[in-house]
Amino acid sequence: MLKNKKENQVYVWPLCTRFVHWLIALSFTTAFILSFFEHRLNYHVGVGIIFGLMLSYRIIWGFIGPKYATFNTFKLNLSQLKYYFVEKIQNRYRKIPAGHNPASSWYTLIVLFVGAIIVITGMLLYGIQEGRGYLSILNENYHKFSSVLLDIHIYASYTLLVWVIIHISGVLVEQFYHKTHMVNAMITGYKQTDGEDAQLCTPKNIVSFVIIALSLWVFYVIAFDTQSPFVKSKFPEINFKEESPVFYNKCSKCHKIYPPYLLPQKSWLRIMDGLDNHFGEKITDQNISKENQIEISRYLIQNSSEHSTREAALRITESTLEERPIAITKTQYWRDTHKDIPLSAYEDKKIKDKSNCFACHKDIEKGNLEDRDILYRH
Ligand code: HEC
Ligand code: HEC
Repeated sequence: MLKNKKENQVYVWPLCTRFVHWLIALSFTTAFILSFFEHRLNYHVGVGIIFGLMLSYRIIWGFIGPKYATFNTFKLNLSQLKYYFVEKIQNRYRKIPAGHNPASSWYTLIVLFVGAIIVITGMLLYGIQEGRGYLSILNENYHKFSSVLLDIHIYASYTLLVWVIIHISGVLVEQFYHKTHMVNAMITGYKQTDGEDAQLCTPKNIVSFVIIALSLWVFYVIAFDTQSPFVKSKFPEINFKEESPVFYNKCSKCHKIYPPYLLPQKSWLRIMDGLDNHFGEKITDQNISKENQIEISRYLIQNSSEHSTREAALRITESTLEERPIAITKTQYWRDTHKDIPLSAYEDKKIKDKSNCFACHKDIEKGNLEDRDILYRH
């Protein structure tokens, strides 16, 4: 048996294990907080990828990692788990094992399992719902699963949050009640108990830090490089002037062009049928000839929300099944997504009206409604 580096202490968690532990904790917390800021989706996804890569790494570590980290040292017997809690209550100053105790063995497995669900649904959502990155090829055929995926993603994240809080409470009980210095162990790597030091050969150490560096690089690319294939949108900018000069010329006289995918066919027909009283304006055959009106209608119908797999289009189609709104701002979806904007926002001279999408959504004139391009902050 090799001699331990420190007397009465065991080196349980090598530097890379500790690094990965804290990176998992930090990336999950950050991604959770960022999820409340829609326009920070790129950071949320970038941090989520760090979380995913670190989880994968931890799973591989479970097979080839150093002593105490491998799954075969996990104590998963339920009677061991029960005994762990009985002893916890009966014996305040009990001896702790060098590696994982039964509770932390189960804890780790569940984190890996729930974490994997979060990462997989997150990656699918990014491709299927947002139409971004490599998985955007799935958008076309699987867009109807985006709501289910989102529900799973959210429920799993809250489950993990509760799970993490239980973990932190358990560790604090160890630290302050049982006085086992559990927190210090994940910082210094040493536990005060019996056992052999964990050893980690240099190649594995190097590979570990290369993977950590790789995950930071991927984060950088996703968060800051808008053109990288990891984040590139499958939806190109729309040049309305080129696609339909008549629509562009006739319908951008009084306001800028509203992208046709933001209303269903039936709404466009209602708008085109009611031009003689268009939101208080009288638009006649003199303003837009009958021929042009027919051409515009055709273009609008061909490009209505039913014909698009963009997230907003899908939501608008869903939310207008029962009704035939005459304006985007009258759809339930629009009202829901904008309900947090205070009325005072419209007192701003640059915004003025809720129909003035263009003041708050940069690039909506090019057909793009990106979360990160929202100019207005409340
Ligand atoms: C004579 C001026 C004028 C022309 C031309 C015009 N609009 Fe409008 N439109 C308005 C006004 C005024 C509103 C009310 C909202 C606003 O103040 O921007 C409006 C609102 C809309 C809205 C609702 C926006 C919302 O709040 O969700 C849509 C959709 C729309 N117009 C489509 C069209 C289309 C399609 C054409 C071309 C056929 C067109 N408009 C041409 C004046 C015009
Ligand atoms: C006062 C500024 C403002 C105006 C005007 C405005 N929006 Fe928004 N819009 C926002 C903000 C802010 C959000 C993000 C809401 C949130 O997630 O909290 C948003 C969200 C959205 C979303 C959802 C995007 C997503 O991925 O969640 C769509 C679609 C949208 N707006 C379309 C429109 C359209 C179309 C118009 C014009 C008819 C419009 N908005 C007018 C500020 C505005």
